[in-house]
Amino acid sequence: MSLIQEIEKRKTFGIISHPDAGKTTLTEKLLLFGGAIQVAGAVKSNKIKKHATSDFMDIERQRGISVATSVMAFEYKGKKINILDTPGHKDFAEDTYRTLTAVDSAIVVIDVAKGVEEQTENLVGVCRTRNTPMIVFINKLDREGKDGFDLLDEVEGKLGMKVCPLSWPIGMGQRFKGVYNIYEGKIRLFSAHGKQSEEDTIEITDLSDKILDEVLGERDADTLREEIEMITEVYPSFDKEAYAQGKLNPVFFGSAINNFGVKEMLDCFVEIAPSPLPRITEERSIEPTEDKFTGFVFKIHANMDPKHRDRIAFMRICSGVFKRNTNYLHVRQGRNMKFPNPTMFMASKKNIIEDAYPGDIVGLYDSGNFKIGDALTEGEELNFLGIPSFSPEQFRYINNADPMKSKQLNKGIDQLMDEGVAQLFTKLDTNRKIIGTVGVLQFDVIQYRLEHEYGAKCNFEGLPMHKACWVSSDDKEAIEELKSRRKKNLAIDKDDRLVYLAESAWTLQMAQDNHPNVNFHFSSEF
Ligand code: G4P
Repeated sequence: MSLIQEIEKRKTFGIISHPDAGKTTLTEKLLLFGGAIQVAGAVKSNKIKKHATSDFMDIERQRGISVATSVMAFEYKGKKINILDTPGHKDFAEDTYRTLTAVDSAIVVIDVAKGVEEQTENLVGVCRTRNTPMIVFINKLDREGKDGFDLLDEVEGKLGMKVCPLSWPIGMGQRFKGVYNIYEGKIRLFSAHGKQSEEDTIEITDLSDKILDEVLGERDADTLREEIEMITEVYPSFDKEAYAQGKLNPVFFGSAINNFGVKEMLDCFVEIAPSPLPRITEERSIEPTEDKFTGFVFKIHANMDPKHRDRIAFMRICSGVFKRNTNYLHVRQGRNMKFPNPTMFMASKKNIIEDAYPGDIVGLYDSGNFKIGDALTEGEELNFLGIPSFSPEQFRYINNADPMKSKQLNKGIDQLMDEGVAQLFTKLDTNRKIIGTVGVLQFDVIQYRLEHEYGAKCNFEGLPMHKACWVSSDDKEAIEELKSRRKKNLAIDKDDRLVYLAESAWTLQMAQDNHPNVNFHFSSEF
């Protein structure tokens, strides 16, 4: 197969949702369709259960599970589909943002009863800034929930999407009778637990057909007719180009647990979802069809075995063909490296692979050489863009609790920061180290891992900080003035970039007013 055929065959995407909307269940059904797993229950949820937030062993166990489910590949209708797992827990949001840099499209799962929830809003926001094509799946139609039109309004209002329903529910909860597949003009009748067969599908070329009254009953048939008429009037018809540009979002309705409405969405997905797209670097845009291999690391997963400090760096192939045991340039370190055991994941199985193509995700065993965003190439010096750090929301001083182990502590902190577990800021005035995270859960993870993997002890000291902003200016003197006047608020991040630590929104505003020639950025890429 030629490189172009390999590229066209691939679809790499992520499923995003608020916890409990049904992401794990949907993933599992997709894998069942692809034959990657045979039985339900094979995909374990990697969500951190709410009651277990302070249970370290549970965090460890969950991390173990999530490496296996980091990437799941399956084949369907001649396409190779890579699903990238995205942690739903809010405290791991940054991990999810980074994973979304490695996908070409996304499926957004929404609970019919809960509607658009907070975490969905955040994640969709990230996808929208990158114009990622998104399909919406409204789940749990076997339960009572919100009215279909109200939900579409909510999706448009809260997620800023332009929707285009491609399937429509016939009733819901106790009265759920099935879905009308607008895309194909077919009705699929609902039967619980995915037992529906082709006979449950009724082709309708004309909604006024009396057969509709026979199958659904007159009342539901009339409601469906009215609703479809309204949909045709109100919503745009499907346009693949608009979807590909992130400007139109197809919506499907179904029930993942009952494997209902999932196939309709998957069939449409394989037809419309984009194949691997170009990626941008500081230097130029990288086309997947370029001969030479390029890739970047978007996620690093720590070792499973505390005795070895091995990690797995997940790399997205962006162009060319990646080959096992071949020398590639590690751009940041300026040296060649080769990989004897690159792995790919098929559901929960891992296999060593000989080669991989754009859109594929390869796991590279790493003894501490990689950090998030690192590029591998055949020699060109490229720096991938679009993998920024965002301002953390929680800040604490980290103190060494065992002075005999300061070397271990520093090494541990360095490596955990490379993995992207949290961010480190070193204050300019006192040299004290501050850890910034998205959620409080990471502090437990850091403390636990420093002790168990690096033999170092630490404790944290609360710090009432509001935001960290990366600062820049064309005017050197403006930066010098900021440094001399606000030294106690300044720190450097792990890459020696200057950061302003603001105690409150008000003090941040003051700093901005007093230093008009300095730019304050909420993400490290500006
Ligand atoms: P997540 O990964 O997005 O967090 O959600 P997950 O798939 O784990 O689903 C959350 C809960 O919703 C699960 O129930 C799951 O069984 C249920 N669920 C998923 N799809 C549907 C659906 O179509 N209809 C209904 N009624 N429920 C659905 P749970 O009780 O939290 O877990 P479990 O004990 O069933 O595993």
